[in-house]
Amino acid sequence: AFQLAPPRMLRAAAAAAGRTLLLCALLGPELPTAVNITWSSINFKTILRWQPKPSDYFYTVEIHGQTSDTQKKCILTAETECDVTDVLRNVRETYTAHILSVTSLRMDNFEEPPFAVSEKFTPYNQTILGKPEIQNYTQKDSELNVVFKDPLTPYTFPNGSFQSIRDIFKHDLQYKLYYWKDQSSGKKDAITKSHKFEINVDSTKNYCFYVQGIIPSRRENRGGQESVVLCTSVGRTVIAIAIITLAVVLSVILCKRKKAKPAREKEPLNGV
Ligand SMILES: *[C@@H]1O[C@H](CO)[C@@H](O)[C@H](O)[C@H]1NC(C)=O
Ligand SMILES: *[C@@H]1O[C@H](CO)[C@@H](O)[C@H](O)[C@H]1NC(C)=O
Ligand SMILES: *[C@@H]1O[C@H](CO)[C@@H](O)[C@H](O)[C@H]1NC(C)=O
Ligand SMILES: *[C@@H]1O[C@H](CO)[C@@H](O)[C@H](O)[C@H]1NC(C)=O
Repeated sequence: AFQLAPPRMLRAAAAAAGRTLLLCALLGPELPTAVNITWSSINFKTILRWQPKPSDYFYTVEIHGQTSDTQKKCILTAETECDVTDVLRNVRETYTAHILSVTSLRMDNFEEPPFAVSEKFTPYNQTILGKPEIQNYTQKDSELNVVFKDPLTPYTFPNGSFQSIRDIFKHDLQYKLYYWKDQSSGKKDAITKSHKFEINVDSTKNYCFYVQGIIPSRRENRGGQESVVLCTSVGRTVIAIAIITLAVVLSVILCKRKKAKPAREKEPLNGV
């Protein structure tokens, strides 16, 4: 038996080499691997993007966590983006993505496909806080009240309702209100950990404001997206009267002009 082994091993080695050669001939040159890999994540919805568009091959994304098992997403996709939200559920974990370039021929796992590795991504530290939605606001006497809602994440509670960013960030999350007198540029700000702001203001002036989520403990991406800007209108009746007066005056002037020059030609519609 001892003497028979070497020839058998030789034969096996020759066969393996032959198979490899055949496969190389079949597969041709190495496939391109992904470049410019980026994570984009808002309120824990996370999309991985990369380049280039594949011509005659596919991509498969593998998400590697520190403690969780490797998970595959977007298997054999011809796209250059992949929604990986549902495999990043352990939001404090740090993940890397491997983007495998594969042809359907390699499906038998005969050989490790070429792949590119993304930068690390930790959802809890890196997802961007989305715009808070302002529910209502009032300016009464010298108090400006602003009530807003937490943005929701794609993650759900066991009962099926969506978790808000506050459900995940808890006490790490604050909101900042930026406010200023309408027509002026001097901005002030206030912080809250609740869902509303109560600010002392000048009761005779209109104010404009917006709200932004912040995570003070972060080193990067500390401030989130800004809500829409809204303005109060304590002086609205005065302004309305002014506008109506102006409109009346203008129309009187225009009518007079029209009567003075009734036969004026239309101007050609150039460069519209
Ligand atoms: C990667 O990004 C760089 C810079 O934005 C760009 O010049 C290059 O064309 C990109 N690569 C591919 C394969 O698209
Ligand atoms: C918001 O609206 C509710 C009901 O419409 C009202 O009771 C509440 O006082 C309002 N809050 C503010 C700050 O305007
Ligand atoms: C679902 O569960 C969460 C957390 O336990 C709770 O805050 C929320 O009100 C529940 N939603 C519904 C619709 O029961
Ligand atoms: C996430 O942020 C916290 C607070 O800044 C920091 O202590 C922690 O090391 C960060 N984690 C990673 C993986 O960067």
